[in-house]
Amino acid sequence: MTRSADYFARALRVTPGGVHSPVRAFAAVGGQPLFIESAGGAIIRDADDNTYTDYCMAFGPLILGHANPSVAQAVHQAVDHGWSYGTAERWSLQLAELITGRLPWAEQIRFVNSGTEAVMTALRLARAATGRRKLVKFAGCYHGHSDAMLIAAGSGMSGMPASAGVTAATAAETLVLPLADSDALTTAFAAHGSEIAAVIIEPLPANQGLQPQTTEFLQTLAATCRASGALLIFDEVISGFRCSFGGVAGQTGLQPDLVTWGKIIGGGFPVGAVAGRRELMQRIAPAGDVYQAGTLSANPVAMQAGLATLRQLEDGGVYRQLEQLGAQLRDGLQAVKNLRVTATDSLFWLQPASDPVSHYGDLHRHMLAGGIYLPPSPHEVAFFATAHTPADVERLIARAGSWQPAC
Ligand SMILES: Cc1ncc(COP(=O)(O)O)c(C=O)c1O
Repeated sequence: MTRSADYFARALRVTPGGVHSPVRAFAAVGGQPLFIESAGGAIIRDADDNTYTDYCMAFGPLILGHANPSVAQAVHQAVDHGWSYGTAERWSLQLAELITGRLPWAEQIRFVNSGTEAVMTALRLARAATGRRKLVKFAGCYHGHSDAMLIAAGSGMSGMPASAGVTAATAAETLVLPLADSDALTTAFAAHGSEIAAVIIEPLPANQGLQPQTTEFLQTLAATCRASGALLIFDEVISGFRCSFGGVAGQTGLQPDLVTWGKIIGGGFPVGAVAGRRELMQRIAPAGDVYQAGTLSANPVAMQAGLATLRQLEDGGVYRQLEQLGAQLRDGLQAVKNLRVTATDSLFWLQPASDPVSHYGDLHRHMLAGGIYLPPSPHEVAFFATAHTPADVERLIARAGSWQPAC
């Protein structure tokens, strides 16, 4: 028995499904999760001393790769000074100033502990600011695991309309629309416009595969919200600081009322953030009447990891470097008939061309046997990091290209 298998058998006894977040269980690809002992750059090493080139990158936060030296140094320094104060400190100020100084639609920011929390706060704020109850989300977009958002919510929830435990009353307040469908949007607003507090979207949907939206659709969405008095929330937990420093908002010039961030903003430590126009953000406690709090919010270690990460992204060079890896992958797999690849910016989604969901497990095992770790679900996207090299991508192309679907 491998060490990973032994650990997993023990984990199953003490943890639901043996893991602390569902997709990690490998249920969608078959087999059992690898227990990782260490990681550096593009490489992860499991408990049995196997190494893999990692394209999951902790589901997105690690745009600089594992244990990036500058981030590691910032974290070591931070820990040497104590790691939680429960009061004001200067690193959240510096991170807030860095972000608000660069992104005009983020006049104020509140740091929280996860993307889920950021979205919860944004939705509460939108309801308070508009005095309305209903929310609109899009099918396949995932916005974390708060009750209001666990409806048609992408990868971990695929095929389930809602989680058990979400009340029908809560679900009824969330309207779910298809992506890229302006007519459905118009119809929903014609029927419910005056009740809709906010529309939330992943402007680059990346939780049920990768489904880039046209700028025109996002513009229509923004105009529809503006006309009806609903707030537009861009959930850039994945795309923020990844597609560009300003995320999709920065790329398209569209300015959401509120934006939520997570993942990269904490450099791989637990962080989320909600940001937006000053007069909206001023509604958040203690400045205003919308309550939000957190014992570990703006944790100084996470803030310094975030600062050390964002400072390396500021000049845009990283984005150009990563886009080239994406282009290399697209070109390299163009002629491979068994696979379909969608790649934009530094994200990619590799799918078996025939029967993508049921053949993905086989593709995943083939890649793993070749030392390449893809996300363990057909619906999850993969990520490039600065630690990946063109030679890594060549190996990825060669290994993927040698996969044959089982008949
Ligand atoms: C777009 C989006 N929003 C929100 C979340 C929730 O973030 P977290 O897992 O940090 O709670 C995720 C997580 O993957 C996400 O992809």
